[in-house]
Amino acid sequence: MTPPEHKARIARRFDAAAATYDVASAAQRTAAGELARQIRELLPASTTTPRRVLEIGCGSGHLTRELLPHIAGDWFVSDIAPAMVTRCRTSCGPAAHYLVMDGEHSALAGPFDLIISNLAAQWFADLPGTMARLADLLAPGGFLALSTLGNENFAAWHAAHAALGLTAATPGYPSGATIAAALPPGLALRHFSEQNLPAHGSDPLEFVRNLRAIGADTPAPGTAPLAPGQLRRVLRHLAQSAPAGVCYHLIYVVAQRPD
Ligand SMILES: C[S@@+](CC[C@H](N)C(=O)[O-])C[C@H]1O[C@@H](n2cnc3c(N)ncnc32)[C@H](O)[C@@H]1O
Repeated sequence: MTPPEHKARIARRFDAAAATYDVASAAQRTAAGELARQIRELLPASTTTPRRVLEIGCGSGHLTRELLPHIAGDWFVSDIAPAMVTRCRTSCGPAAHYLVMDGEHSALAGPFDLIISNLAAQWFADLPGTMARLADLLAPGGFLALSTLGNENFAAWHAAHAALGLTAATPGYPSGATIAAALPPGLALRHFSEQNLPAHGSDPLEFVRNLRAIGADTPAPGTAPLAPGQLRRVLRHLAQSAPAGVCYHLIYVVAQRPD
């Protein structure tokens, strides 16, 4: 499968999950709240100053709902999956412009005062390249704020596969330090943090169902979903090796272009 085919597959899966995403995405909602808190802490106090804002990978609108009412200006809210954009527009209302767009190659020209993205960047084919392109779209003093997944994401899930001689179809990710080091040199790092967040209860089957319900089950390139018998073995192993459940490893990065 070529990289464009893989990206189209990711978009189709999220598109198909748009109706179930909102209620199934408690972890993503928590991450959106945390990222919004960090952004509001760093933005200059006068949030009434109109700003030009770009959101990438809006999904059903968890982050949009957190920030749109508090940051005045021209908002451009985008996602690669058309049905997600429709969901977000329905939920967040007409105060923003909505568009279907691959956030790795913005169709919009800068400058933006704020570029935000909650848990979409882990799907990018080229995160360092995308951060460099987004940095070029920032106005002087503008912020790039994103959350993504790190190298310990679903560690117990990956360990259960390894223990059984299997390969997980869920992607692997770079460490937080690698992501921070990949920031474009022109940007100053203003916030960095990591968080382990339970993915979905302690029932391993619920974890798998939840990934499907949010559309986050596209296999990593070169991998395939488990056969039913293999999945049952992994779930049995997980129930014993990780009784507390599987965790997301979240990375939060806020960087600023100097004035
Ligand atoms: C896990 S969801 C997060 C959605 C939302 N930001 C939230 O907080 O719930 C990931 C979203 O990123 C979108 N996405 C994936 N790759 C993308 C890309 N290259 N450009 C824009 N959006 C992308 C998906 O369609 C999906 O809506």
